[in-house]
Amino acid sequence: MPVLEIVGPQHPRRAASAAAPAEGSALRRFGALPAPKLEWTAEVERETAHLYARIRNVVPPAEWPFFAPYVHAINRLKRERNAVILAHNYQTPEIYNCVADFTGDSLQLAREATKVKADIIVQCGVHFMAETAKVLNPDKTVLIPDLKAGCSLAEAITGEDVRLLRERFPGVPVVTYVNTSAEVKAESDITCTSSNAVQMVESLGADKVIFVPDQYLAKYVASQSRVKIIAWKGSCEVHERFTGDELALIRENDPEVQIVAHPECPPDVIAAADFTGSTAHMIDYVRRNRPKRVVLVTECSMADNVQAELPDVEFTRPCNLCPHMKRITLPKILDSLLNMREEVTVEPAIAERARRAVERMIYLKS
Ligand code: 13P
Ligand code: SF4
Repeated sequence: MPVLEIVGPQHPRRAASAAAPAEGSALRRFGALPAPKLEWTAEVERETAHLYARIRNVVPPAEWPFFAPYVHAINRLKRERNAVILAHNYQTPEIYNCVADFTGDSLQLAREATKVKADIIVQCGVHFMAETAKVLNPDKTVLIPDLKAGCSLAEAITGEDVRLLRERFPGVPVVTYVNTSAEVKAESDITCTSSNAVQMVESLGADKVIFVPDQYLAKYVASQSRVKIIAWKGSCEVHERFTGDELALIRENDPEVQIVAHPECPPDVIAAADFTGSTAHMIDYVRRNRPKRVVLVTECSMADNVQAELPDVEFTRPCNLCPHMKRITLPKILDSLLNMREEVTVEPAIAERARRAVERMIYLKS
């Protein structure tokens, strides 16, 4: 059924990026380490050869001598610092395949964050993912290589907006997409990701829920469930740009192509797709079905990462870059580990309430 109502600001707001935490406290606790020499030596070539083998069909040999010294230094520093790197599926191939300890969609990364044994988590993704890792690990140090790696969805709504929604729709529970700040999660009954949104909405046993902030994910959930949805007017600046018309044209020119879309896309895009799912579900779909040609209607690096694993599948455009995800680079990850920045903190009272909403999702029995 269609969503009941879409509420929110008339003009999409772009809230300021996340505030910086107390200056240099992680640096004071752990100290800085000297910058390594970043040279393409025989030792670096030998010790990174197995990593280059993973991405050789998406990264040309001429580029590897620039990446390899960083990869080598980052992997050594992770051991020295007792750090792990969690990387989202949208990270570039050299990060995703060569320095990450765990990769996945938002749900997998949140689950992984509950199991981390290391002292330090470096989140290669966007700020809300790092905040989720911190909320789940209040005693660990969480770093993000660039504090400006935000998200148009997370910036579309504030905690105050959720409180006003509750006043306007008394008694209606709030399901919040994880692409939000900890402050917004703290005002919510439960969080969800794109891989479990329908299940989380239905888990509350209510006939109506407020679903924030992605209007398109809300529409997708409404199309899959009998629960009535009140949506918020947020959207992903990467996925909202795809159109059903461009996919129809691709299909017309290539009737065999498989089209796989993320549920943050508008409804006409989802209607044109053969399959819709979270980034992890999209990858699984391609792994299972091995189409000859496929369009991954999402962020561009994901096609590169799946291509690295499945050289026989041809990935056809379009895709769109997420400027926030692309702020994370090998030089910034190295700087993060050397100088313990940028530390992600969440005010303890907010973290405690946000943790309740996130854990309710993570530990929900299906
Ligand atoms: P996934 O949880 O599907 O990885 O989505 C995260 C995201 O930011 C998509 O744009
Ligand atoms: Fe946010 Fe969209 Fe980028 Fe995902 S792709 S992080 S939803 S802006």
